[in-house]
Amino acid sequence: MFKPSAEFKAQANLGSEATYKRLYAESVNSPAKFWGRQAKELLTWRKPFKQVLQWKAPHAKWFTGGALNVSENCLDRHLGTARENKAAIIFEGEPGDIRTITYKQLHREVCKFANALESLGMKKGDRAAIYMPMVPEAAIAMLACARLGVIHTVIFGGFSSEAIKDRVNDCDAKLVITADGGWRRGKVVELKSAVDRALTGTPKVEHVVVLKRTGNEVAMTQPRDRWWHELMAEAKAEHKPKAFDSEHPLFILYTSGSTGKPKGVLHTSGGYLLGTTITTKYVFDLKESDIYWCTADIGWITGHSYVVYGPLANGATVLMYEGAPNQPGPDRFWEIIDRHGVTIFYTAPTAIRAFMRWGDDYVKKHSLASLRLLGSVGEPINPEAWMWYHKMIGKKRCPIVDTWWQTETGAIMVTPLPGVTAAKPGSCTRPFFGVVPKILDDNGKEVPKGSGGRLFLTQPWPSMLRTLWGDDARFKTQYWSEIKGIYFAGDGARFDKDGYLWVVGRIDDVLNVSGHRIGTAEVESALVSHPAVAEAAVVGRPDDLKGQALVCFVTLKSGQTASDQLKDTLRAHVAKEIGAIARPDSVRFAAGLPKTRSGKIMRRILKEIAAGGEVKGDVTTLEDFSVVASLQAED
Ligand code: PRX
Repeated sequence: MFKPSAEFKAQANLGSEATYKRLYAESVNSPAKFWGRQAKELLTWRKPFKQVLQWKAPHAKWFTGGALNVSENCLDRHLGTARENKAAIIFEGEPGDIRTITYKQLHREVCKFANALESLGMKKGDRAAIYMPMVPEAAIAMLACARLGVIHTVIFGGFSSEAIKDRVNDCDAKLVITADGGWRRGKVVELKSAVDRALTGTPKVEHVVVLKRTGNEVAMTQPRDRWWHELMAEAKAEHKPKAFDSEHPLFILYTSGSTGKPKGVLHTSGGYLLGTTITTKYVFDLKESDIYWCTADIGWITGHSYVVYGPLANGATVLMYEGAPNQPGPDRFWEIIDRHGVTIFYTAPTAIRAFMRWGDDYVKKHSLASLRLLGSVGEPINPEAWMWYHKMIGKKRCPIVDTWWQTETGAIMVTPLPGVTAAKPGSCTRPFFGVVPKILDDNGKEVPKGSGGRLFLTQPWPSMLRTLWGDDARFKTQYWSEIKGIYFAGDGARFDKDGYLWVVGRIDDVLNVSGHRIGTAEVESALVSHPAVAEAAVVGRPDDLKGQALVCFVTLKSGQTASDQLKDTLRAHVAKEIGAIARPDSVRFAAGLPKTRSGKIMRRILKEIAAGGEVKGDVTTLEDFSVVASLQAED
């Protein structure tokens, strides 16, 4: 147990166990009272809400009757206050270019870009896809959409053109916002050309806005494609934001599930903004003077909630870095922390493990004295990495918040509160306000403390997903049907004797590779789309660095010959179909896959083989045991 220090406690935004207990009890026993008060205190409403929650499981409406503008909450309300000339974003590009953008300047840019979007015909309810590097313009694009009530869908810059096409078509985006490229490990990642390839199959897209970032040559198709800087040169700097209903959709974010098709998680305005605002304030103990750095890309939920909406609604100074952690050297992050005086640092266990592997010397060259709080997100943090983070980066001085949450939850759900909760390395500890986690067995019965089971959240919370875009039936079956009416998170977990939560990981067919969710079915469908492949099964293998590695078992069509070259071709094919993050770590050819007599692939067996272990457990339902023997011999 790592208890909070007296110094930290004394200055914490929420500094006592008694306050946590009192507020937590109120939040779960009288949610309408608790959330109603927080919504009034933390957000600026144009029209007050009438009712805090309308709950007809699984559909929630928060703050009904209320109207607000999310961009106004992140920008306009800081103007005319002491924050007006405070840095909203400190940006460092990978080549070393640095820009500081104050709240007043960010407001101006967002207003201009909102006007530019309007000039292209974008209006409330339209969808815009954003496919950009980690540059301030990505946040500007998101906030300008929010200002107009345009629903954005950010597509991670590492996804392929196929993935862009699927997402753009799924939500019928009218507009794509992109850049010529972004910098990554000293090279240009070409974004516009990927968009061009995607747009050969997206009939609804009318315009593409292109930011000039890297200066590489791009093809501009007239009149579809417009330069960001040309639109901005013509745009007015004033823009009066309209107020939208609290339940107006803010964004769609696609995430992997257990089928081949990514799910469009829908978040709306008031509840989402409240969830991200309150967690940023208390989980990160945010102070006016902090320089806050969350290393997530805006393409993921962490980038939405804890680079853009949560911190800006709180008037924080956000550090944004474009590139790779080891460019030009493995100490780039530590250099950045010292150069800008970063005080709060939020990153992923997979990154921490990479830093450990690169060696302590790179850390020791830097002071890191400005840091006061550390965070972890995306996957369970192994205690060894936690200890290294604590000693080497936090110098035993900084509390670590291990935050459990999901794309679907919108905001942090289970986490230590700094200054209050004693940490145990590897546990995300206790629920945040309004969150009621339960571990249930297959029959929906609560398991005793210490036993494992499936993780559910039994009460609705403001930043919960509202549905899956265009597929409410899947929303219901995916999350609310395991046990009717309560939210199934898809994770396995247990409570220990102190009531601390330990999340073990996904128990569905979703892998967590370097903190990124990848559906095995998506990779399988990419593999079988290659002409040489007859059948494919994809499983995870424990990996020291990535958490899980992708192992693919592939049977070939007759007439095809297994070769190392074909393995490489298939790995490249998956990267082309989905994106480099899904490139398989290993491809293994097999004469057949282990199946039950009813034809279901027995993944459990493949997992054991992939992990290099013996095949244990029951194989009596297996159709042909010789398949397993040959798969083991293959390795
Ligand atoms: O399995 C859990 C894991 O990441 C999943 C959610 O992934 P995604 O929607 O991509 O969002 C990641 C960023 C919020 C969860 O179902 N996960 C996330 N944070 C933790 C975690 N597992 C253990 N501990 C965490 N702190």
